[in-house]
Order: sequence, then C-alpha cells, then structure tokens
Amino acid sequence: MDRAMKDKELIQKIMELKEERNAVILAHNYQIEEVQDIADYIGDSLGLSQKAADIDAEVIVFCGVDFMAESAAILSPERTVLLPEINAGCPMADMVTVEELKKEKEKYPDASVVCYVNSSAEVKAESDICCTSSNAVDIVKAVDSSQVLFIPDQNLAHYTAEQTDKEVIPWDGYCITHHRVRADDVKKARKAHPDAPVIVHPECRPEVVSLADYVGSTSQILDFAGTSEDEKIIIGTEMGILHRLRKENPDKKFFLLNQGMICKSMKFTTLNHVYAALDRMQYQITVEEEIRKKATKALDRMLELSG
Ligand code: 13P
Ligand code: SF4
Repeated sequence: MDRAMKDKELIQKIMELKEERNAVILAHNYQIEEVQDIADYIGDSLGLSQKAADIDAEVIVFCGVDFMAESAAILSPERTVLLPEINAGCPMADMVTVEELKKEKEKYPDASVVCYVNSSAEVKAESDICCTSSNAVDIVKAVDSSQVLFIPDQNLAHYTAEQTDKEVIPWDGYCITHHRVRADDVKKARKAHPDAPVIVHPECRPEVVSLADYVGSTSQILDFAGTSEDEKIIIGTEMGILHRLRKENPDKKFFLLNQGMICKSMKFTTLNHVYAALDRMQYQITVEEEIRKKATKALDRMLELSG
C-alpha cells in the first residue's frame, strides 16, 4: 500500500476515534503538514490557550509541545488532555526552574513577574501573569509595577522593553531555533528578494528584530501575509508555518530567513502518534492541584487582558 493510501486509512481511523472519544484536535502552526491538515483548530499559543479554555469536548488532543498541553490541562481541568508524543518539549521552557525564579524574585521584590507561556506549570504558578508572543507588549504595559522580571525569553524581554517604558529585567533563556538567525541572514535575504518585506517572530535576536518590517506571533504573521499586498515575503520563524502560509496564499511566495529554522520537538508528532493517542488515551497531561490553581491565576489574568 502506498503512503497516501496508508495516510488516508489512518486519517479515517483517527476521525472515527475522535468521534467515539468526543475529542478535538488542536495543532500549533509549527506542526507537520499532515497533522495540521487533520486538526480542528490550528493556531498560535494564545489562540490555542483560548480554544482550550472554551471547548465543547471531553478530550483535547494537543499536537504541539508539552507546555502547550500543560496550559490546556491547567485551563481545562475537567477535560482529558493528551500530548501524542511525550518527548515533545520546548528547550526554552527548560531554561528556567522554579528554584532559580524564587532566588531572582528575592533580588527584585518590587518587580512583577511576567512569564512567557513557554514555561512549566510550576514556573507559571510562581509568576504574576503569563503572556504569549502575540500579547507580551500589552501585558507588560498593563502590569501595575514599573519594573518587570520577564522569564524565560531574553529576546522577547528585549522586544517588550523597546515597546514599553517599563524597566524589563530579562532572563537568559532563548529559543534555539530563533536565536540562530543573525542580522547577516536578513541582509542576505533582502539582497536576494529586494521587494519582499521581512517578517519575524519576536523570539529572534534584537539585531534581527530591529531590521524587520513586521514582528509578530505565528498567527499574527499569518494575518499579516493574508492582508498584505506583497507578492513575496521573507519569513523569520519556524518552517512549519510555511504550510499554512502557502495554502492560504497560493499566489504569494514565501522565503525562510534561515534554512535552519526547524524546531525538532514540533516535528515529533505524526499521524501515527495522533492515532495512538486516541486509541490508548495517551499521554495524559495533568497538573498537581495546588500548582494548577496558582498557575491558573497567571493564565486567567492574561486571557482576561487579551479579550
Ligand atoms: P506563537 O505563540 O507565536 O505561536 O509561538 C510559539 C512558539 O513556540 C514560538 O517558538
Ligand atoms: Fe520552544 Fe523554540 Fe520550539 Fe517554540 S520553536 S517550541 S520556543 S524551541
């Protein structure tokens, strides 16, 4: 049996099981094409959190990385949240531990802790409010202290510092996929495609962000591309986004800023994993109740401010 036929059968089985389990499939914009194509909802971290908090299903199959499924489990404790590939973690989220955060908080007792959703439930529980790449600037502006301890992404921290009048103290974490892009990549891409705007994710280095024409989350990048008059666009984020960009804009051309923009963890989940997740109800993501309650506060505050 050829691959397309096998996939067709697998998709059919997934759809049947999805119905049986009363499940929805959520997928991040970086997931592999086959997984994006069977999802009920595809989005950025904010969109997926909003969906998870307000979904009419018993089971959420979260095709993304662990902090995303964990956020869904925090926001929807009455539902079963499944992460189809248990090893899909975010290296940046592992760059801050709760012990390290507690020590840093002692150094800045007046600072609000703004925590990027790319973090563990324990770290969220120790934070005042969460943010995603699409609302980080608004969240930093909205907190009532003039000093902000921003964890764990140093690049997003820098971006919010530039866009607000707050004193933003960065953590030293970063995304290995976005951090590898350099100013030189922007210069080369502009030379190769002089009429194309450069659109980047705020997890890129400040030197890259400062050269870009637009900065946004993955869904904001998709919105920009959909409404822009440009026929060619240079994209500075993980390559998985190209699938939707090309599907939704068949007449436009998209070029990646750097060919190494691949997040391995986002590529772990396959159709087979999704099938196994629904068949065996694996891997169930749960958060200890005490931590969950505290982390909910930080996530709810963000969702309230994000409308
Ligand atoms: P978005 O919220 O923009 O989708 O970003 C998530 C992420 O992990 C970026 O690397
Ligand atoms: Fe984490 Fe970067 Fe992968 Fe996003 S792209 S999940 S921040 S490692």
